Amino acid sequence: MENNILQIIYLIASVTFILGLKYLGNPGTARKGNLIAAFGMALAIFATIFLYKNEEGNNLGNLQYIFGGILLGTIIGWLAAKKVQMTAMPEMVSLFNGMGGACAMLISAIEFNHIITSLNEAPAFFLLVLGENGFNPFAGILLTIITGLVIGSVSFAGSIIAWGKLSGKVKDKSFPFQQFINVGMLLVILFFSYQVVAMKSEQFVTIFYLVWFLALLYGVLFVLPIGGADMPVVISLLNSFTGVAAACGGFLYDNKVMLVGGILVGSAGTLLTIVMCKAMNRSLLNVLIGNFGGSAKGEALTSASFQGSVKEVKASDAAILMKYAKKVIIVPGYGLAVAQAQHVVHDLENLLESEGVEVKYAIHPVAGRMPGHMNVLLAESNVSYDKLIEMEQVNPEFSTTDVVLVVGANDVVNPAAKTDPSSPIYGMPILEVENAAHVIVNKRSMKAGYAGIENELFYKPKTSMLFGDAKKALTELVTEIKNLG
Ligand code: TAP
Repeated sequence: MENNILQIIYLIASVTFILGLKYLGNPGTARKGNLIAAFGMALAIFATIFLYKNEEGNNLGNLQYIFGGILLGTIIGWLAAKKVQMTAMPEMVSLFNGMGGACAMLISAIEFNHIITSLNEAPAFFLLVLGENGFNPFAGILLTIITGLVIGSVSFAGSIIAWGKLSGKVKDKSFPFQQFINVGMLLVILFFSYQVVAMKSEQFVTIFYLVWFLALLYGVLFVLPIGGADMPVVISLLNSFTGVAAACGGFLYDNKVMLVGGILVGSAGTLLTIVMCKAMNRSLLNVLIGNFGGSAKGEALTSASFQGSVKEVKASDAAILMKYAKKVIIVPGYGLAVAQAQHVVHDLENLLESEGVEVKYAIHPVAGRMPGHMNVLLAESNVSYDKLIEMEQVNPEFSTTDVVLVVGANDVVNPAAKTDPSSPIYGMPILEVENAAHVIVNKRSMKAGYAGIENELFYKPKTSMLFGDAKKALTELVTEIKNLG
């Protein structure tokens, strides 16, 4: 009876995960989606603790460890989430994802030990298993265990390295023949995994631990050479790995909610990875082996090979241009997040609207450093969602716009993506701001953005540079517009 109720609760929890994902698709309902899915997860966890009964009719037991773990995890998770800066969000996601991978990895290790113990208790059966006819009744379960172990370990080790890179603790490191070594290692892992699943060798227990070690090492070597700024894509990929590893746990325990949850994370992570790669016009392979951005990232670009010169504008002149415009489009980028200028940009928007100016935001799908970065940032300062216009819709509007204000964006407005086939971002769809009458670009210097390349837009006759930290520059702009009366 209890198990039937448990299955119904699992079904309800699975539905909350799907609803949660659906609501997460829109910034307006994302918070609700998160709460719904978290509620479903809590329901599934507590139902398992109190209602689950094994074949002998026993409950889970070990309640002191379970609740101790829940308490500890809740406190750490709560404090970490409260403390984290918006710009450090990908780091935290990576760390938490690594914990998911570690769970899946440990589940596999524990379940493997259960099998070994049961074999030791029934040696006659063990001999039968390894008998001449080669029939191995454990093959299915061992396959699930080893899959969860390998994928979980790669995800755990890879996520920790990704976290280290994003927080500046680990440097990008390419090593000679890295691709060959990685592929070779993967083949060795596959070969040994087969040895474990087929129980071909009497040493299969030792081989299991060897596979575990190699999978952890592979996770480190796989992520280490990838360009630091490509980490969001890698984290999304590792996230999908964790989902698959968790789904293996669902198979092992015949636990439907774990299976559904794992599959949802796996497929959502995969889709997100594809969407991000598409928006950057890069293949996943290119992200994984490409070292995109390279060493030029962040270096000052003084030797512009472009025609024209850089024109600087003072906040007072920019204020006049914007106050007397009919239509202004603001293009937010990574620098807006760095400067935490989301509130002041909203003040600027309100001020301009009170002067009768039409204001919109142009949102590039990979502006910033994580999916939906700009949407989340602007939602924080209560910018109305209907003002956030996606790239495809906003591009035709630039030709009827008086002023475009680019705030801390660079690559997503770089015309080289359309005009220079030799550029690393060639083919990436961009916001076509140069079609507007005037372009004001706010950034601190002439330094490159993520892709480490020059931007011809800054040298165009209709572009003026408003140098300075975004928060400071926009605050000045607001003051100047107010001073105009
Ligand atoms: P970027 O091209 O990285 O340019 C950001 C610009 O912001 C920099 O040139 C920087 O110039 C400026 N900046 C930094 N701090 C600032 C501050 N405090 N005040 C004002 N400006 C500041 O950013 P983007 O245009 O948003 O493009 C995003 C890039 O990241 C794309 O190449 C994309 O492919 C990549 N990427 C995105 C994602 C996702 S999912 N969003 C994932 C991986 C990679 P200064 O140093 O001169 O100030």
